[in-house]
Amino acid sequence: MNYNLLKGKRGIIFGALDANSIAWKTAERVHEEGGQFVLTNAPIALRMGTINELAEKTNSQVIPADATSIEDLENLVDQAMEILGGKIDFVLHSIGMSVNVRKGKAYTDQNYDWTHKGWDISAGSFHKTMSVLYKKDAMNEWGSIVALTYMAAQRVFPDYNDMADNKAYLESIARSFGYFFGRDKNVRVNTISQSPTPTTAGQGVKGFDGFIAYADKMSPLGNATGEDCANYTVAMFSDLTKRVTLQNLFNDGGFSNMGVSTAVMDKFIEE
Ligand SMILES: NC(=O)c1ccc[n+]([C@@H]2O[C@H](COP(=O)([O-])OP(=O)(O)OC[C@H]3O[C@@H](n4cnc5c(N)ncnc54)[C@H](O)[C@@H]3O)[C@@H](O)[C@H]2O)c1
Repeated sequence: MNYNLLKGKRGIIFGALDANSIAWKTAERVHEEGGQFVLTNAPIALRMGTINELAEKTNSQVIPADATSIEDLENLVDQAMEILGGKIDFVLHSIGMSVNVRKGKAYTDQNYDWTHKGWDISAGSFHKTMSVLYKKDAMNEWGSIVALTYMAAQRVFPDYNDMADNKAYLESIARSFGYFFGRDKNVRVNTISQSPTPTTAGQGVKGFDGFIAYADKMSPLGNATGEDCANYTVAMFSDLTKRVTLQNLFNDGGFSNMGVSTAVMDKFIEE
């Protein structure tokens, strides 16, 4: 279904690596809704991924940027405004990576250089992105900035490791920066807390198959898919959500408010 919700709006979409990426699915939906955007990812991801396919499909250009580099971000924002022909209405931050997770380090035994790197990519980059947009006055009034997060920011998921702490920090940045962006520029900033989703980043977490199945059984509506997340993000970019800001919004089929479900209990009373 197509509602033309983003007709005339311009944006930047971070984090589309391959067709499973949540950012990829979001770019497709934003395009269907009439939004125009530039795609961006880290130079190494551009070499490994298949983003050009998406660029072609959505009539968009790709600008390489390491989201931890202020210089790259400044160049990205300048180029995006030039290519799109004006200020920005929406930004999706869909970036996450833990070196400790990737290299199998336990939460209790972190390599702190890796912890710092993972923090910079997964949380610090959100502050840096907003800081560049804010200082350049690059956002249009009533624009919308969304970052993706996970419920391990509030509750314990042992194998999510230091990403849990990064997500807590990311959500806090959304509130803190969102205040200044709201007060000074009438721009809203929110995080969407998404169900486990089978992507490159998701599947990198140990025991992913177990916890995606568990979350599905716990949630009255089942896990939210990447497509569901794309639709929610489109709604958050549209003018229909103008005064929603500083929120962490759960897109998780109800999981975050569950104690136990009959489907999960049944597993424990199986003979
Ligand atoms: N998959 C899940 O289960 C799940 C659940 C909740 C939230 N999320 C969040 O959704 C977001 C998108 O992840 P995904 O699941 O689509 O996986 P993904 O692996 O497709 O996307 C992660 C992206 O981060 C990019 N990235 C890494 N380092 C970067 C850097 N230095 N600069 C710029 N980009 C960089 C990667 O290239 C990749 O495109 C992440 O924030 C993730 O934590 C995912």
